[in-house]
Amino acid sequence: MESPSKEKKLKKILLAYSGGLDTSVAIHWLKEKYGCEIVAVTVDVGQSDDLKEAMRRAKAIGASRAWVIDAKKEFIEDYIIPALKANALYEDKYPLGTALARPLMIERLVDMAKRFGADTIAHGSTGKGNDQVRFEVSIMALAPEMEVLSPTRDWGMSRDEEIEYAKKHNIPIPVTSEAPYSIDESVWTRAIECGVLEDPWEEPPESIFEWTNGLGTAPDSPEYVEIGFSEGVPVSLNGSAMEPLDLVVALNDIAGNHGVGRIDLIENRLVGIKSREIYEAPAALVLMKAHQDLESLVMPKDLMHYKKAMEQHYANLIYDGLWFSALRQAMDAFMNKTQKNVTGVVKVKLFKGSAVVVGRESPNSMYNAALSTYDKSDEFDHSAAKGFIYVWGLPLKVAGVMESAKNVNGDLNGSAVKEEYTSACK
Ligand code: ARG
Repeated sequence: MESPSKEKKLKKILLAYSGGLDTSVAIHWLKEKYGCEIVAVTVDVGQSDDLKEAMRRAKAIGASRAWVIDAKKEFIEDYIIPALKANALYEDKYPLGTALARPLMIERLVDMAKRFGADTIAHGSTGKGNDQVRFEVSIMALAPEMEVLSPTRDWGMSRDEEIEYAKKHNIPIPVTSEAPYSIDESVWTRAIECGVLEDPWEEPPESIFEWTNGLGTAPDSPEYVEIGFSEGVPVSLNGSAMEPLDLVVALNDIAGNHGVGRIDLIENRLVGIKSREIYEAPAALVLMKAHQDLESLVMPKDLMHYKKAMEQHYANLIYDGLWFSALRQAMDAFMNKTQKNVTGVVKVKLFKGSAVVVGRESPNSMYNAALSTYDKSDEFDHSAAKGFIYVWGLPLKVAGVMESAKNVNGDLNGSAVKEEYTSACK
């Protein structure tokens, strides 16, 4: 997969169109540079922009066709739920909304490119972010024959120059040069960067938040939500069965109202840069907490501990653009297997920015009151603990005895070991 040289004649370019400044300018720039037909496709994963308006804009700028594909349901069911089963949080904080949306977008774009006979896919990701990598390696996996173009990486224009270019060519631009933030949205996360946020010391201004109340405006009394899971999938909210997509949308509102879901992360990008990103992800954080908690009720200790290590690996792999790898698919098979008993209800208390799990129940609960209680109904065999501790601590005891049988020079005295050991073991 190579960037096409100037001489190479491209047949048709399918552009991943977001509706923003970069991809709007790209329609005109690509058409002028390559002189071929441009088809604009937007994959709807829950961004709040007016996508119909974006389509009209794409056509006005010069796209021969413009499409919006509603992929929200697929996004939740095929991407978010696997990530939830894996408790996937990059660097323990970021629920990976952008990183999960990219492979889905590519899946749909590749379908459309084949349908329209396009030989090239262009995307608007910048040359220093993670998304360019995610887009391009996903295309390499799904359509290795496809040409890939990254106009924003190639044209070398600053933001101001882009705006100038847009004005010069009568390109209707959706933002003004004063809009200081870069925002990426899906039903799972809203990500905000640039502007004043580039100073890691600066507190994010209240004005950047759209999904969450600040602590000052969040309600003064707590609210409880009960989330029902079936084999790791969220299926009900406060006792009513719901499709996962509707549940995520509703929970974003409820938890966001209580100021839950703000994340401030100094993040290690795949391309080697540290960046500061602010996220809003109310439903993602509440669901992740509830899901983890339910797992702790129903999952054997060894499986839980082993899974924990895999979860981090899984999150890194998604962040790093490797959704279509065999490793991710094998990990999903493992994660699915672990979810067999993750059925039950979790009660979460939302209050002034915090979401705390305060109760959980499951038909598969491994919590056994007769074993854990300290009252009279206790059935745990206390006397068995003695022998267990003897065996468990034996290696430590042997080491301890050897340590105390050393002389002042640190040499081991064989007969002293024997003596000490005999007396210690009495
Ligand atoms: N840092 C996140 C990621 O790489 C989000 C990127 C999009 N952010 C944005 N504000 N445009 O997945």
